[in-house]
Amino acid sequence: MLEFKNVTKRFGQITALTDVSFQIEDGEFVLIIGPSGAGKTSILRLVMHEFAPTEGEIYLDDIAIHNLKRGQVPMLRQQVGAVFQDFKLLPTHTIFENISLALAVKGVPQSEWNDRVTHVADLVGIGDRLDLFPSQLSGGELQRASIARALVINPKIIFADEPTGNLDWETADGIMKLLTKINEEGKTVIVTTHNRDIIKEHKGRVLEVKNGQLVKDSTKKHHEKTA
Ligand SMILES: Nc1ncnc2c1ncn2[C@@H]1O[C@H](COP(=O)(O)OP(=O)(O)O)[C@@H](O)[C@H]1O
Ligand SMILES: [Mg+2]
Repeated sequence: MLEFKNVTKRFGQITALTDVSFQIEDGEFVLIIGPSGAGKTSILRLVMHEFAPTEGEIYLDDIAIHNLKRGQVPMLRQQVGAVFQDFKLLPTHTIFENISLALAVKGVPQSEWNDRVTHVADLVGIGDRLDLFPSQLSGGELQRASIARALVINPKIIFADEPTGNLDWETADGIMKLLTKINEEGKTVIVTTHNRDIIKEHKGRVLEVKNGQLVKDSTKKHHEKTA
């Protein structure tokens, strides 16, 4: 379970998040929605411990992310596979190398790389693109490759921050279907978006953030929300 308990994040004068609390259970597929500047990316960066909250607590199961020691950060990041709008693939490395780098960081023996990379690449539908460089792939393929890179370390959670932001609608729909498949195979999936079509199609839980506040949780009734 991922839990935010009364989390506030300030950057100097700017408040990115104010008193945000939620719990996401294992196996959920949650959309975090809200306009640009609402605080969505800050939620991901707090989960990855890129920075600590100003106030409040964040837990991933028994890991207290809010006061993690520096040496524990790699262990945390092996539990959360992050996916970004701009893919963050290394242009000088092939897709195979980009994905296997995640295994290298985790310390997985090189003898296992081929099997593991091939497995996730097939799963996301880019098994025949592994020897190409990022510049040779389409946007949808690049996002599939970055999802493969997130998956290859077998994290508990896939957290995708506006993964369809650079894609046309049909390609975006394909990425959302892929994330749905990954969720159905048992992973917790969290996706931030401000795309109305994606929000309309989503059948699971929706958390809405506005001005740094969690203003709506689709699984909670009105009287609970305001309690
Ligand atoms: N490192 C930072 N330093 C200062 N302000 C930041 C930083 N990161 C985010 N912010 C501010 O926090 C608010 C929320 O940003 P963000 O989480 O990126 O929103 P979203 O992803 O929903 O667009 C914005 O006002 C943004 O300018
Ligand atoms: Mg953002």
